[in-house]
Amino acid sequence: MTAYSAFARNQWYVAAWSKEVGRELLGRTILGEPIAFYRTEAGEPVALADRCVHRRYPLSASGLDGDRVVCGYHGFTYDTTGTCVFVPGQKRVPRTARVSSYPVAEVDGMVWVWVGDPEGADTGAIPRAPHLVADDFVTVEGMEPIDADFMLLVDNLMDLSHETYLHGGYIGTPEVAETPIATEVDEESGVVRVSRHMKDAECPPFYARSTGIEGRIERRQDIEYHAPCLYLLHSTISPSGQETPAFRTEITYAITPSSPGKVYDFWAVSRNFATEDEEVTTFLRDFNHTVVMQDVDALNLLQRTLDTEPEGYQELSINIDTGGLAARRILTKLAAG
Ligand code: FES
Ligand SMILES: [Fe+2]
Repeated sequence: MTAYSAFARNQWYVAAWSKEVGRELLGRTILGEPIAFYRTEAGEPVALADRCVHRRYPLSASGLDGDRVVCGYHGFTYDTTGTCVFVPGQKRVPRTARVSSYPVAEVDGMVWVWVGDPEGADTGAIPRAPHLVADDFVTVEGMEPIDADFMLLVDNLMDLSHETYLHGGYIGTPEVAETPIATEVDEESGVVRVSRHMKDAECPPFYARSTGIEGRIERRQDIEYHAPCLYLLHSTISPSGQETPAFRTEITYAITPSSPGKVYDFWAVSRNFATEDEEVTTFLRDFNHTVVMQDVDALNLLQRTLDTEPEGYQELSINIDTGGLAARRILTKLAAG
């Protein structure tokens, strides 16, 4: 059995899209910790350990009474800090009756959680994805759980040459794999940039059908990965020969390790064109979901292959892996530090 990559604990991770957190409890396992999320009546997100201190019933399967969580098993009641304020059948609430609460922050339409040492939870360090909530963009989004080490998803997203093969006929064309990349690594801030600028390339259905462009295109992919969680792909296209980008699409991923060998794949596609066109919105949602599922299936398969590999197997890397290898180096360092 292959060892799974270590988690970087003292970091912010996306736990949910904002719209997923409401007045019903939501259970997610983040870095191995089961957490229950909800929103107070005033709209503030709350994150509590998803295990009642009494007999460990999951609070995510429980209910709310105002801003308090009432355990669905015997009614232990917790406030937003995780302190138990009521137990059934007696006046005195035991001093140790509490569950952990986690720092949470809502930024750019995502609920972020910090499972590490709460001292370090500086919301100013959360990387931004302003297009997700910008007025001039329309966004479609989703989340798929994958039974694979989170590093496999990082690898997958850092090297888009796989679009040609895994997503051929969707977003991949021959030019993606053919065009060399430029990689920039900022070890200090943990940001990896990978760019690929394609000249006079085939227009894949994803862009042909959303923009209406019929001929060949200038296509730019500029990846900006903020380790460990946020991945932005700035994608611009224009008709061949036109240097100024005509259509801008922002592809966002959040890579959140759930438990060893499991990862949440949050994805979003934002566009600043045809924003009123419902058909384009539906098309991009369905089409991108299909593309994401192609990756999900591939990574599930890949993990199964990894799990059966002999000790000491030597992986082979080439130029296209430069960004992925840089990301791995940074993630290993973050996990150690
Ligand atoms: S398990 Fe929650 S009150 Fe008993
Ligand atoms: Fe992919």
